[in-house]
Amino acid sequence: MPQSHRIEAALDRALGCARGGTAPPRLSAALDYAIKPGGARIRPTILVSVARACGDDTPALTDAAAAAVELIHCASLVHDDLPCFDDADMRRGKPSVHRAHSEPLAVLTGDSLIMLAFEVLARTGAAQGVDARAAQLVLALARRSGMPGGICAGQGWESEPQVDLHAYHMSKTAALFIAATEMGAIAAGHDPDAWQDLGALIGEAFQVADDLRDAVLDEGTLGKPAGQDDLHGRPNAVAQLGISGARDRLSDTLAGAIASIPSCPGEAALAEMVRQQSEAIMPVLPTRYSA
Ligand code: IPE
Ligand code: IPE
Ligand code: MG
Ligand code: MG
Repeated sequence: MPQSHRIEAALDRALGCARGGTAPPRLSAALDYAIKPGGARIRPTILVSVARACGDDTPALTDAAAAAVELIHCASLVHDDLPCFDDADMRRGKPSVHRAHSEPLAVLTGDSLIMLAFEVLARTGAAQGVDARAAQLVLALARRSGMPGGICAGQGWESEPQVDLHAYHMSKTAALFIAATEMGAIAAGHDPDAWQDLGALIGEAFQVADDLRDAVLDEGTLGKPAGQDDLHGRPNAVAQLGISGARDRLSDTLAGAIASIPSCPGEAALAEMVRQQSEAIMPVLPTRYSA
């Protein structure tokens, strides 16, 4: 099965756990809306690729981990778009969840997706007889999602008077990429520590690319509002380094990511995947910026 089908199937199974019984239909519909159709699915793609590079000896657990990391990512986007954060009307080329389904349902959608991520890991650990690995996955995902260094911390920096750009980007974005590489290793029974640098470097590059896109592309191309960093006065790589400085930082960071891949049975295939993702990450800028 192609990797992208594998990830969509894992997400479908996860969503299935949240359906049926006495589930309120409008909240159920909002959950589906937040997950499908997806964006680039880059975090689960990295997770599955790392697991395969490490042997992928328990594929059902890898699938659960891939679904869990994407569920947390989608939850973070639903909450990020709310009026109390970025007040964004568009996401993935369609109205954001609170615009399409109401603000209370958007808050509950984010909450439900977070719970579902951990439920899927616990259920699969029990079903596959790999509870110890599932507990490690829960720990890695919780650390990279919450406080003091996960997504919650990253969003929390936006309420501080002084922001350290590196700490902000590391927790807001890179943390979940670190979760992806760590969880890929854990799902396949490997030590996650060796995989932190790869996730951190891809995550850092990804946020610089996102800042570049936000600064120079438009809403139609992005499928979400543009110029947000400027609008909200957020620290960002373009404000700090300029367009060409940010592009140089992006290329250097991606090269560092490939160099950081730990030695493992599937090292060459993984390096190729990171190269492909790098091409997808690198924004195509309008010609006036391509000096
Ligand atoms: C957007 O993430 C939010 C950031 C962390 C910059 P993605 O660009 O991965 O969003 P989707 O999932 O592809 O829509
Ligand atoms: C979103 O960051 C990162 C999250 C943790 C949700 P941004 O606010 O910079 O990303 P976009 O532009 O809305 O995707
Ligand atoms: Mg935001
Ligand atoms: Mg936003």
